[in-house]
Amino acid sequence: MAVLRFPQPPHGRGPVLGDPVENLQVDSEAEIRAALAPLGIDYERWSLDRVPADANADQVLAAYADEIDEMKRRGGYVTADVIDVNPATPNLEAMLARFDKEHTHDEDEVRFILSGRGIFFLHIGDKVVSVEVGPGDVLRVPRGTTHWFTLCEDRRIRAIRWFQDTTGWTPHYTDSGVDKSYQPLCFGPAYLGPRLRTTISV
Ligand SMILES: [Fe+2]
Repeated sequence: MAVLRFPQPPHGRGPVLGDPVENLQVDSEAEIRAALAPLGIDYERWSLDRVPADANADQVLAAYADEIDEMKRRGGYVTADVIDVNPATPNLEAMLARFDKEHTHDEDEVRFILSGRGIFFLHIGDKVVSVEVGPGDVLRVPRGTTHWFTLCEDRRIRAIRWFQDTTGWTPHYTDSGVDKSYQPLCFGPAYLGPRLRTTISV
């Protein structure tokens, strides 16, 4: 399940960049959807039991063909693939460095996480919300959203991606420097534990 972090402003004013963040682990897809929907971010959960963990990319795409086609229809996407990143990936550091600075794309960034964990930092209006995604999470970041992304400590993620036009996925950097103010620390469900179930306040 995703872990959300929202800025927590002092009482009496709205959030601004640099406010401390609070980790929020919410327990249901519905709660996460409700938290992210006002920001224009779509979130849902898909079952992971369709394929074994060692299924190859073609097997994954075949197993989720119906969902992939439905997502294409909803978002106007024309292709989908499986990205598999791990510490053995050639030029891993260079790859991560392309996306860990604030940027936008000319098309949506849509991911279904099959395994591994990473953090999307979403800079929307005057606040930065982070969404740590893990297996089963489906996230759609609309085109034009300023954001950055990094992997968790074990540096591995496997995900289905959708594209409207693969050339549109080139990052456009904002050079805002906002990304330097946020630690890419992953917590995961085990860190927060079952006791933490906090009302979301933005
Ligand atoms: Fe991106």
